[in-house]
Amino acid sequence: MPRYNLIATCAFGLESVVASELRELGYRDLKTEDGKVMFTGDDLDIARCNLWLRCADRLLIKMAEFKATDFEELFQGALAVKWEKLIPENGVMHVTGKSIRSKLYSVPDCQSIVKKAVVEAMKRKYNRTMFSETGPVYKIEIALLKDVATITVDTSGDGLHKRGYGETRGEAPLRETLAAALVRLSRWDPSRILADPLCGSGTIAIEAALIGSNTAPGLKRTFVAETWPTMPKKIWEAMRDEAAGKIVSRPMEIYASDMDIAVFRQAVENAERADVSEMIVFQKKPIIEFSSKKKYGCVITNPPYGERLGTKESTEKLYRAMGEVFSKLDTWSFFILTSHPEFQKYFGTKATKNRKLYNGKIKCYFYQYFGSLPKKQNKDI
Ligand SMILES: C[S@@+](CC[C@H](N)C(=O)[O-])C[C@H]1O[C@@H](n2cnc3c(N)ncnc32)[C@H](O)[C@@H]1O
Repeated sequence: MPRYNLIATCAFGLESVVASELRELGYRDLKTEDGKVMFTGDDLDIARCNLWLRCADRLLIKMAEFKATDFEELFQGALAVKWEKLIPENGVMHVTGKSIRSKLYSVPDCQSIVKKAVVEAMKRKYNRTMFSETGPVYKIEIALLKDVATITVDTSGDGLHKRGYGETRGEAPLRETLAAALVRLSRWDPSRILADPLCGSGTIAIEAALIGSNTAPGLKRTFVAETWPTMPKKIWEAMRDEAAGKIVSRPMEIYASDMDIAVFRQAVENAERADVSEMIVFQKKPIIEFSSKKKYGCVITNPPYGERLGTKESTEKLYRAMGEVFSKLDTWSFFILTSHPEFQKYFGTKATKNRKLYNGKIKCYFYQYFGSLPKKQNKDI
């Protein structure tokens, strides 16, 4: 089986979360850079990582990396790649690009040079002049950063946030990959209660249920690399069977509520599509009615920021209400993602820790208020 240099791309700020996911999957040779984690693997790893990575955006194969300060260097670098090892005679070669702080700044020109080079390499190998491009799709990306060209091929197709359950979304839904990252960063485990009292379309609760039941997030979707003749179908079948066998059924207490009946219905529908509706208790209620007699719970939530959703005044009033309601839950931990610069002031307390994260292009902070943890039972006593 050929080995590849693989890149799991992710939102800025989530590199260490994706690296920890990869470590749990058994990968050790990890290298982290802004927005990506690099490692090596074969076809089996491509299938496994696409199915299991919860917080990465895509999985790419790195085909080449070289210095390119003019079009000739770019052409020669792209021509030197053994494209025929991946792309069949009828493959669709779709080239996209980006350029940051590089002499080659015209992205359309870079894209057409790389396309020319790929076709030229294919012409030489297959000994023909025209290609029908009617077969499987290969999304090639040329990324220039400070005059270094990196050429990749996408193995995922749709972004990995597309799990296949979120067809109905609220006005400001969280990406599934970010929701999963918030759950991982909270260090919640299924023995504790988890609640999202501003659940919108339910993404945080659904991702928590998938994590708690050890369900591979990609189990309900397909990936572009499945259509490639180089990747035997049996690999995907084996990885899917393995993932299905790893789902655990365990009691969990996950609560999701929202005051808006329309988004609340979407949350229920999404959970049904994700096959986790039985793991989540959905309630339509305003945050002021949120309470619990139980201890050591964990709130993970994404309130309106007062930008896309909610006015400045209503948002600040909501943050005050959250502060009051949560202060009654003295053993609980709270994790709140917002871009509002004065969240802590209105909420009423300073976070134990905060972390810069991006919700799409919006710079946010993930405010972490750590409560106490249940004492571990000592079986010897
Ligand atoms: C940013 S959205 C949450 C999006 C959600 N994370 C998702 O993935 O769809 C914020 C949610 O807070 C809800 N909300 C705002 N004020 C509320 C209140 N006082 N009580 C309960 N829900 C409220 C809104 O209806 C909205 O669905």
